[in-house]
Amino acid sequence: MSVLIRGGRVITAADDYVADLFVENETITLIGESLDLQADRVIDAAGKYVLPGCVDPHTHLDMPFGGTVTIDDVESGQTAAAFGGTTCHVDFVIQGQGQTFAAALDGWRAKAAGKQVIDMGYHMAVTDLDEGGTLEELATLPDQGVTSYKLFMAYKGALMVDDETLFRTMEVAAKTGALVMVHAENGDVIAVLVEQALAAGHTEPKYHALTRPPEAEGEATNRAIQLARLAGAPLYVVHVTCKEAVEPIALAREKGWDVWGETCTQYFFNSLDDIAKPNFEGAKYVYSPPVRDKSNHDVLWNAVRTDALSVISTDHCAFLFDGQKTLGKDDFSKIPNGGPGLENRLQMIHEFGVRAGRISLNRMVELLATNPAKLFGLYPRKGTIAVGSDADLVVFDPARTVTISAASHHSKADYNLYEGTTVTGTPELVLLRGNVLVENGTLVASPGIGRFVPRARFGDELKPARP
Ligand code: URP
Ligand code: ZN
Ligand code: ZN
Repeated sequence: MSVLIRGGRVITAADDYVADLFVENETITLIGESLDLQADRVIDAAGKYVLPGCVDPHTHLDMPFGGTVTIDDVESGQTAAAFGGTTCHVDFVIQGQGQTFAAALDGWRAKAAGKQVIDMGYHMAVTDLDEGGTLEELATLPDQGVTSYKLFMAYKGALMVDDETLFRTMEVAAKTGALVMVHAENGDVIAVLVEQALAAGHTEPKYHALTRPPEAEGEATNRAIQLARLAGAPLYVVHVTCKEAVEPIALAREKGWDVWGETCTQYFFNSLDDIAKPNFEGAKYVYSPPVRDKSNHDVLWNAVRTDALSVISTDHCAFLFDGQKTLGKDDFSKIPNGGPGLENRLQMIHEFGVRAGRISLNRMVELLATNPAKLFGLYPRKGTIAVGSDADLVVFDPARTVTISAASHHSKADYNLYEGTTVTGTPELVLLRGNVLVENGTLVASPGIGRFVPRARFGDELKPARP
């Protein structure tokens, strides 16, 4: 199967030019001007952007959490991703208590079997080194293409690990070439604040944010950075929300340490005003770390502009408002934490990042595709447009205006964090390894087309040239 994409404006992290792309056997084989070639499928991309398929390194599909299971399984979550121009994601396998890493991985693979719409990889979330997986077993995961370990420093009594587990995992990562990812919030302190709030009769959703203050995120971020430094492991801080966490990451990066940070789409837009909405509406905005005061929106835009933060992910962790979020109707601490977002990342960052003049088109591609691919061992197969790369491509119409709504999105979530937002610029055609996934507003490929992608060990593509 060959595909010729004619006359699009090709945008990568580094370049911006008009060209034809020729795709054979799922990869890009030629890039040039006015290519005189026959193809099974010819796509006219004149007036459109041609972007690399976006890579989302932070998703939770079909995950048991907060007394329920995330509403999007691999098929619905990846369908939402495809419509939004994301062609590869890395999902979190969560090691159960007493479970080996092999058993945890098998469980996640079984959930994906036959359902994959886009390509995917796995991170391993380490929760139990006492009775479950061993350090020796953890060390074997990179050989299976699972090259990142995730640790939760919050969610006491559920996913949270102590500093010993964190540090021992970091030591393994330093040896095996895996990247350590942390959810950085001080879970012990949060547990005390939650207990105090409930004892005072504070049950509404807004107390979720008030019991998880920015200082708890800043402290844990600092701690993780120092421990990673001590262990000699590279560190990636997920879903950074505030100045208190951006500052230590920026400082570490200035010093040339192997520290990277990610934020998520929702943290640029949602705020304490949302979580305080009446009639339990605020529960839609209960995720962790929580929404912050609006002053942090500019902090985050500035951080992604200056590379203090290097990735924008979604942390897609969708629950129904009706029936799942309502588990916490009388107690904010029982509201399942998480929100939907896989479909709208590119639209929202294009509209409010690029069109609003905050970041360039190249930087958008870098944040949504190239940097996640580089950090997570997928580059240059994913995350760019180059000869030899997978033909994961988005033909993006920069002039088409759409209004985001739960009524038209593809997640099973019954609400959208950006409901009613109008954006100009949206994916028109999405290809996975040269196969058309989405066309004319329809999913045209069948589930099963997506593959597991073994990822390379943490490389040095993103390490700055140092004097
Ligand atoms: O609230 C969130 N973010 N839910 C997903 C789990 C996590 O902490 O990433
Ligand atoms: Zn988290
Ligand atoms: Zn997450």
